Formats: sequence, structure tokens, C-alpha cells
Amino acid sequence: MAAIAAIAVFPPALRAQSYTSAKFKAGDSPEWKTPAFDDSSWQTLQLNQVWDDQGIPASTKFGWYRLKLATPQLPAATGTDADKYVMVNLGKIDDVDETYLNGTLIGKTGSLPTDKDGYRSRFSATRSYIAPRSLLNKNGDNTLAVRVYSGGEPGGMYTGPVSITPAGYLDGAKLAITESGEKAQRTCTITLSNEFPWTVSGRLAIEMTDMETGNVISRTERKISARPDKNAVVTIPCAAEEPVRISCVFTDTKSGKNITARYTPKYILTPAAPLSPRFNTAPVYGVRPGSPVHYRFGVSGERPMQFKSAGLPAGLNLNAADGVLSGSIAQPGDYTFTVTASNAHGTASQQFTIKVGDLIALTPPMGWNSWNCWGLSVSQDKVMASAEALMDKGLVDYGYSYINVDDAWEAPSRDADGKIVVNEKFPDMKALGDWLHERGLKFGIYSSPGDFTCGGYLGSLDHEQQDAESYNDWGVDYLKYDWCGYGRKHETQKDKGTRASYVRPYMLMGEYLRALPRDIFYSLCQYGMDDVWEWGHVVDANSWRTTGDITDTWQSLYSIGFEQQADLAPYAEPGRWNDPDMLIVGKVGWSNNLRDSRLTPDEQYTHISLWALLAANMLIGCDLSQLDDFTINLLCNNEVNAVNQDILGKQASPVVKEGAFQIWARPLADGSTAVGIFNVGDDDMTVNLADYLGAIGNQPLKSVRDLWRQKDLSTADLTYNIPTHGVRLLKVTH
Ligand code: GAL
Repeated sequence: MAAIAAIAVFPPALRAQSYTSAKFKAGDSPEWKTPAFDDSSWQTLQLNQVWDDQGIPASTKFGWYRLKLATPQLPAATGTDADKYVMVNLGKIDDVDETYLNGTLIGKTGSLPTDKDGYRSRFSATRSYIAPRSLLNKNGDNTLAVRVYSGGEPGGMYTGPVSITPAGYLDGAKLAITESGEKAQRTCTITLSNEFPWTVSGRLAIEMTDMETGNVISRTERKISARPDKNAVVTIPCAAEEPVRISCVFTDTKSGKNITARYTPKYILTPAAPLSPRFNTAPVYGVRPGSPVHYRFGVSGERPMQFKSAGLPAGLNLNAADGVLSGSIAQPGDYTFTVTASNAHGTASQQFTIKVGDLIALTPPMGWNSWNCWGLSVSQDKVMASAEALMDKGLVDYGYSYINVDDAWEAPSRDADGKIVVNEKFPDMKALGDWLHERGLKFGIYSSPGDFTCGGYLGSLDHEQQDAESYNDWGVDYLKYDWCGYGRKHETQKDKGTRASYVRPYMLMGEYLRALPRDIFYSLCQYGMDDVWEWGHVVDANSWRTTGDITDTWQSLYSIGFEQQADLAPYAEPGRWNDPDMLIVGKVGWSNNLRDSRLTPDEQYTHISLWALLAANMLIGCDLSQLDDFTINLLCNNEVNAVNQDILGKQASPVVKEGAFQIWARPLADGSTAVGIFNVGDDDMTVNLADYLGAIGNQPLKSVRDLWRQKDLSTADLTYNIPTHGVRLLKVTH
């Protein structure tokens, strides 16, 4: 009764127009939308917390919130249609809602299992519904009834308060710019959408700016109008080799107000590879004595191509047709030989050293992992399709070689002997491993030291040795070992929270892996707990995740890439890498529903540049069968990748941080320095690197190379325009 009692005290004009609690009842009845319904026996819930946290069973599917609202006193007389409407602001609702004002449906977000297209959660959408003022009662007593459906826990209204505000004339209009097509056919579509019940019309100004020079390339203006619930669409060509900014301003004639949008279409900086052979991968490879070698030389150029070697150590074999190296070497030592690749356009050679010893992963692993695209919907078919695409689209020619199955390959129970068993989506792991190895690719798998994985599949707890042996039988080359379900076991440990308690499960599996007659890249995934970078090498890990899970937003990229890696350079070295998580370029989605990465093109250049500087694991997380030319350009720039794969193995550190401007520098094996100049702010900027030379080494510079464009730049003029969230990646010599 609290809300109703409060309303009775104040005259209408002074009543609060923001509500923090409501009457609530679990269940579902059409009667509950009617204003006359007596909800006095219902309980009161807060609107800023899911119902699960307020004593309502998490299993609740339907629930109704009812609020008594005063008729708000709203400023009138803008002289437009907006005067006739109000906005009812509900905040976020988990998952689907139908909202009624005085018995009339004013909005719905998401869809119910009984709807035509089935259930669709929209838990993260903010609900603001437009409603005619005429729906509000003059006497001040209004009933807002919100029917909520929760498809899975948690549920309910959770970012309240609820409020009623004036309808802004242009609040229902949105300006968006999207692109489609590739290469010269790339076009950009500017859409003015309108969710409000009046037509907006006015002028759309479109300006294109060359982001390299800051010069305006073109300026046009069009008259457009969008009727209620309709879009106005303008399409323009937008193919460009250098970054071009499209800035749009729509000015509404009636209200004089405007809305803006800006967009940089995808632009391709990486020059096309020559048709003649070119070696794109590091000239070293680490393998343990007697372990099988699975390696494929990364050479771009037209096929067919022939591979030859001179001085190949005994025990190894080089496949002349595809450059796959196999065999093993029993004696520790450095074995240097020459590999030559030839095709119709020419010949190239690489002097290559196999280091037979204790250390593997002398450069960060490159490959693909199923998680960021398929999530738990991964299957053997999808994995093989990705491996095929890795080869067909030439990524293998740039050193991408691991094909890693993440969570969701495990059956619900072990066999009678306690052995881990695959589920129906993975018919034959050994056959998959063999298939990959024949192609010179490597096979990765996922498990947890806990009883269950994060996805709820079986983990390795109490079966560590058995699982390691299964991996060996299947030909596994990479294990991602994810803490997750181990959290429960950890809670039961007497020494929980100590370093020993964090190290223990990883030490155990590490020892079993090392006892196997093959090399398994050991990838720790425990989100950086207890500063794992300080002790990962102790359990013989080859990399350790330093953070929680990445997602395809700038916030995630910024926090994980820039903030959380800043102090970790001292912990990276050949064989031991900090892992800031997998790549978020291309089509991702963590499910069967894939979407284009939500990072802008500039953010994607920043992402790959930073991961190269960080000597990060380069595990592609997208569907490789749907790679576009832009994503291939990001992943297959041999000079950018050479920074990631530099054999000195030093990770970059930030050497300048001035507001939104950061410089990260990484020393390279040839004595030069890789330098990333980043703009992490929301405005474009112009930077003169000459002002910061002290931070990256001694002046003057002998050479400056733009690694994305693969072009030498002037050493006299070090001024660069860097767009918001963009980068300039350079290699400089002193
Ligand atoms: C998370 C891990 C993700 C993914 C997922 C699988 O803990 O960080 O990268 O492996 O588990 O369930």
C-alpha cells in the first residue's frame, strides 16, 4: 500500500514523478492489467533489483508489477505533436515485458515463447515507451501494469526507478550508418528511423573526411523524411583505401533540433601479398626431444608451390607439396637448415632453426578457437569447416595453425573405466587430431581442473592423469585448462586463498602433461587470479589468461587490452606468454547466432596492433568460413604479425600516457622498436611523435615504417592524425 498512501498526501502537481517500488505478484492473469483490479494484497518490490534478490523464487516465469502513478505536470507548448505524448521510462527488464497504461498496451520488448517467432530475450534493452497524454487520467490516478516474462534466472525490473517525462520531438528518431559489400563495391547506408507517431522531415547533411589528412572530401545535403515507424534511407558509395569518416547531421525542420551520426567504413591497409613465395612466419620452432613435430611453413604466394630443404636434420621430413614438416629429433640442440619455396613467379628461402630442448612455443601461438563464435554450440563439423577455411583462405600461410575446440565437446558421464568420453557432436577425436596433423595443423582442446567446466560439462577433477592420457591418444597439442568448477573444490581447501591453493590444480595437470610423449601447449585460464603471471612458469604453463572473458565492445577491449596488461611485460618471454584472451574480429556471437564484431574498423586495427605489441596469443575467435576481406587484411599482415611473433619475445609496455593518448613500445630482435600510438579517447587527435622520442629511445630516428601500410615514412615529419579509438603502428630504428 505504500505507493498509494504516498500519492494520497500530495496534490497532483507536486507529486513525485519517479517511482522506486511497485506492487508485485508472481503468476499471470489478463485481469491484472485493468486499472480497477485490487492489488492491495500484493507484496512490494523494489524496481532496481531483480526479483530473485527480493525473495521471489528464481524459477518464476511470469510476474506482474503494478504502480499507481500521479498525472505528471509536464512542460507543454513546444507547439509540436510531442506535446500530445509522454514517455514512460521503465529501465531494463529481464527478459520480456508488455506494458499497459490504464489498461492500454503502450509497449512490448522481446518476445514470448507463445509468440509467432518464439522467445527472444531483450534483458539489456532499456524500455522507454511513448504514450498519448490522453491516456492519463485527469484526476491523477493512473495504473501502470507491467507483465514480465523471465526465460531463465534472474528476472524482473532491475534498473528502476520508473518515471514519466515529456516526449522529446526527436527522441523517436535515430540516425544510423551501416555498410555492405566488399572492396570497390562497398556502399554505406544512412538510415533515419522513426518510432514516434509523427513524421519527421528535414535536411540530411553528409560530409566525408579523409582521416589521414583531415581534409573534407565531399559535402552533400538531401531532403528526407521518415513517417511514423518508417525509415528514410540514403545509400552512398564508400569504398576507400584510407580511413574516411562519414559524418551526418539530420536537422528537423519543425523543431529545429538535430541528431548526428558518424561512421568510418572498413578500410584495407594491408597491401596484397606478392604472387611469388614469401615466408611469413618466425624462423624458429621449439620442440622437446623425441616429441612429434607438427609444423607447416607459413608461405604466401600462388599455388602450386614446391618446398625443398637443404641440411634437414635426420628424423625430419618436409612434404614438397605443402611445406608440412613432420618427424622427431631425439637429441637436444639447435638444428639450422634452409627451406626453399618456389612457384611460377619465383623462389624464396628461409633459414630455419629447430630448437630441440625444454621450451616450446618460442613465439605466441597462432590459430583459431571455437569459443567466441560458436560458444557451446561447437561441433566437429564446425571445427573442420574452420580448419578448411583456415587453409583455403590462406591464413595458414601466415602461421595460424592451432585449431582449438573450447568447451562443450564432453559427454555427460565418463565410461566404466572413468575415461572422458566425447558427446554426439564429436564423433571421433583421434580422427580429428590425425586429420589436422596431416595438414600440418595442431589440435587444441579444453577442460577444467574442477568437476565441471564453465559451460556445465565434465571437468578433469580426480581424473587428471587419465584425461592427459586421452589427450595424448587423440593427438592433442594444446590444452586450455579453465578454473571454473574448481572454485567449489577450492572453497573446501584448508589453505584456500593462498598461492599454494591456486597453483595446486595447475601443477597437477602440468606434471601429467609433461610426462606425455608429445608436446602440449599448456594454457592456463583462471582469469589472472593470484597474479598468475608471477607463477605460471612454475607449473610449466606456456600462457596464462590475465583477465576475465573478452567481448566485442570497446569497453572490454580497453579494459583488458590497455588497463590490465600495462604492467605485465616483465612476465612474458619465449615459451611463457600473457594471454589477454582471444580475438574479437570477424563474425562472433558465442552461440549459433553470429554477428559482425561490434568494434569499429579503427577499434579492430587497434585490437590487432595491441595484441601484436603484447606478444599475445593470436587465437582467432570468429567463423572462418565467413571471413571478409577486411578481417583477412587484419589477420594477414606479415609485418604486423612479425611484431607478435618476434623471437626476442619481449612484450610492449606503455611508455607515454597523456589523457587519451598512449604510446606502447616493444623492443624487437633486430634492434628496432615496434611503436603503437593509440588514441583511446572519443575525439580524433593529431600527434607529433617528435615530442615523445625520448620515451621510445634515442633520437634521431634512422627510419620509420608504417607496418599496416608497409611503407617507409618520413623521419622529418612525425605528425599523425589518429582517429578516435585508432592507432598508428610503426617500426622505428635509431
Ligand atoms: C570461460 C572461459 C572462456 C570459455 C568458457 C567456456 O571460463 O574464460 O574463454 O572457455 O569458459 O565455458
